[in-house]
Amino acid sequence: MDGRELVRSMKVFGAVQGLRAVRSAWRRRRTDAWGLPPLGAERARVPGLAVEAKPAPGGGTVRFARSTLRICVSSGGTVFWGWDGAGPLPSYALAGEAPDADPRAFLEPDTDGGWRIVSERVTVTVSRHGAVELRTPGGVMLRRDLPPRWWEPVTGPGEDTAAGDGGGTVAGDGEGARADAGAGAVAGNGAGAVVPGSARWVQRSEVPADARFFGLGGRAAGPRLRDGSYRLWNTDPKGGFGPGDDPLYLTMPVQFVVSDAGTHLAFHDNSWDGRVTLAEGEEGAGSGHDRPGTSEVRMTGGPLRCWVVVGTPARVLHGWAALTGAPALPPSWALGPQHARWGFGSAREVRRVVAGYRERGLPLSAVHLDIDHYDGHRVFTVDRERFPDLPGLAEELREQGVRLVSIVDPAVKAEPGDPLYDGGSAADAFVKDARGQEIRGVVWPGECAYPDFTDPAVRKWWGGLYEERLRQGFAGVWHDMNEPVSFVPFGDPTLPRSARHALEGRGGDHREAHNVYALTMAEAGYEGLRRLRPDERPFLFSRSGWAGMQRYGGTWSGDVATGWPGLRASLSLVLGLGLCGVPYSGPDVGGFDGSPSPELFLRWYQLGAWLPLFRTHAAIDAGRREPWEFGPEVLEHARAALAERERLRPYFTTLARLARMTGAPYVRPVWWGAPEDRVLRDCEDAFLLGDALLVAPVLTSGADRRAVRLPRGRWYDTATGRAYEGPGQVLLDAPLSRVPVLARAGAVLPVRGEGGEPELEVWAPAPGRTGGGLVVRDTGDGWEPAAIERYQSRLVDGRVVVERVTDDGVEEPGLPVRVRGL
Ligand code: GLC
Repeated sequence: MDGRELVRSMKVFGAVQGLRAVRSAWRRRRTDAWGLPPLGAERARVPGLAVEAKPAPGGGTVRFARSTLRICVSSGGTVFWGWDGAGPLPSYALAGEAPDADPRAFLEPDTDGGWRIVSERVTVTVSRHGAVELRTPGGVMLRRDLPPRWWEPVTGPGEDTAAGDGGGTVAGDGEGARADAGAGAVAGNGAGAVVPGSARWVQRSEVPADARFFGLGGRAAGPRLRDGSYRLWNTDPKGGFGPGDDPLYLTMPVQFVVSDAGTHLAFHDNSWDGRVTLAEGEEGAGSGHDRPGTSEVRMTGGPLRCWVVVGTPARVLHGWAALTGAPALPPSWALGPQHARWGFGSAREVRRVVAGYRERGLPLSAVHLDIDHYDGHRVFTVDRERFPDLPGLAEELREQGVRLVSIVDPAVKAEPGDPLYDGGSAADAFVKDARGQEIRGVVWPGECAYPDFTDPAVRKWWGGLYEERLRQGFAGVWHDMNEPVSFVPFGDPTLPRSARHALEGRGGDHREAHNVYALTMAEAGYEGLRRLRPDERPFLFSRSGWAGMQRYGGTWSGDVATGWPGLRASLSLVLGLGLCGVPYSGPDVGGFDGSPSPELFLRWYQLGAWLPLFRTHAAIDAGRREPWEFGPEVLEHARAALAERERLRPYFTTLARLARMTGAPYVRPVWWGAPEDRVLRDCEDAFLLGDALLVAPVLTSGADRRAVRLPRGRWYDTATGRAYEGPGQVLLDAPLSRVPVLARAGAVLPVRGEGGEPELEVWAPAPGRTGGGLVVRDTGDGWEPAAIERYQSRLVDGRVVVERVTDDGVEEPGLPVRVRGL
């Protein structure tokens, strides 16, 4: 570390913290120096040629010269394959057992010496070299996974046959040539023994030339993932981030691929550090031939296994939710406007801000308290001088309809005598190094120990601690710093890679546990809250996470930099996460740092009002974020955005329920219903909110109009009522007072009527067309099931008729109907 870095770290953390962080960084290096296996000789391996196949329900097993491939197609059209005998379990992503195998599908010999599995939704072929190809029932290629390559450490006399990292070989020409090269390399090798389960590997895949990639967790530069390399390692970018920063807090080996041939999701179930390199293809690239798009997944260890879900976007996410779990349903109040602040500083300031909303007639659902309400930044404590009666404050706010949400950081101040630390030590809860010494890092309270959430007993202990939060009056929790972070002035700001973890009793180190740290913390918190307060649905959202985290809650942007690029990144994150199965998220409205201009704040507010988590938040040294702090004009326009959010609350409630029931995110890319529309695939500055609305936020400064790409069909500008026909592009007014929002012709959506009662807003169907919509009523914050109501709309003699569709036929809607667009 040079002097400049030291000075910078002092500035960021203060002198004492800075020195601690420097010490901790050196300690981390030292720990890894002896805690990790030494890098030595490696041996390259490819599967080689197929020897035999054993059919089983759903597929079977193919034995190759140097590996085995398990493959299984489930009845729903979900495909699993795993090399070296890897099966679906154990897995942190899966919600339970693997889906049932399709009993009618078996491996059967294919014409060219390989095998195939024919099922209703997908045909899978396995070549004799080990390429796995997925096709539509019509025979169109969706994805082709080439034979993988492993590099295994060898002990004793071995030979580094991998020649560097060998990526070039894999990226080389035909699959047969690669297989042969690999066979030669291994055959000519010395007598060294392979260390089991420690291979790194690479897998290259091809997708159609027209395909677009999305997903990989929360990526600031998306939602369309352009050519480049994306790391899979949850990382605190340290300070405000923008579209150029990658990776961020929440990565996932989940690719969502959209092409003319169809949509699919591919999930490499492996939590190790890795990298995905994507390159879009090109049609007619060389002498009229298409160049396929490629994905290269490179992992530093762990199993090589993959799930592929095929179908329409809606079917794919339905299958994904079936596999990894239905999204948790936030309590109703969590769909309302929320206000957070690092640095409220006192109960008085909280009251002042809440009164500010109330006096101006602005709705407010929740206030979030950050680490400054803790005693010395220690989790599960309260600074009693500044917050002398937190339960009292919570109750007072609750009477005004405002809930309190608490930040929860995982790191525990390592100080004997501290009850939390002593309790954790007694429960043997903290992460240790390979010699059994507790691992220490530096976070807000100073030197800290880290609970090992990959241990079920630790999860139980930690979940029980939320009792203190409930006693203080908090209604929900906000998990932070759980990548996990340890402040360092140089290197990776997290735990040493050699740190030991329980991994459900299997045992392993941080290389495998890092990416699932926050996921398992979320499980601990969610299950704890369920046990402690069984009558209410937990409210939990978390900065970091992994595949399957939606089972426990949502997420938010983290420290998105204040500026127009940060505003754009905010939308990218929400869209990308939705396609990875995490439907509830939103940004720090206004940006985390600095002070947005009034215009930027307003445009952020107008975007946030249409996203599931609608929350203003900012750093301790940032400017204000209350909507009245930006002048009377911004206040009036923010008031309009708030009013519209409140009017649409029944629609948000419906979308939340539908997300739980179907896996479909509230916020969807504009190509959701029309993935075959290539122009829409590249549209990144607008989104669909459910089926009914298309929202076109303003993401640039100085705009008073913007171009909007419409999917096919008729769309109404909700401000003017004017109808437009898609597909095509229209130019719409976007004055400071609002952003363009369009409604789909025929849409039926629930809104709050003037008296507060629900009513149906119906947009006239286009002539000769029908429409409809689903409604799920609010049943409160408990576990009561809710029924889906189905409505249809049609034009009869120029009049809009709306009916409720039931099992017995159609009936009157039973809710007031307000027709628009006629
Ligand atoms: C992290 C969080 C941020 C929070 C701060 C202090 O930077 O991302 O939201 O305000 O820590 O707790």
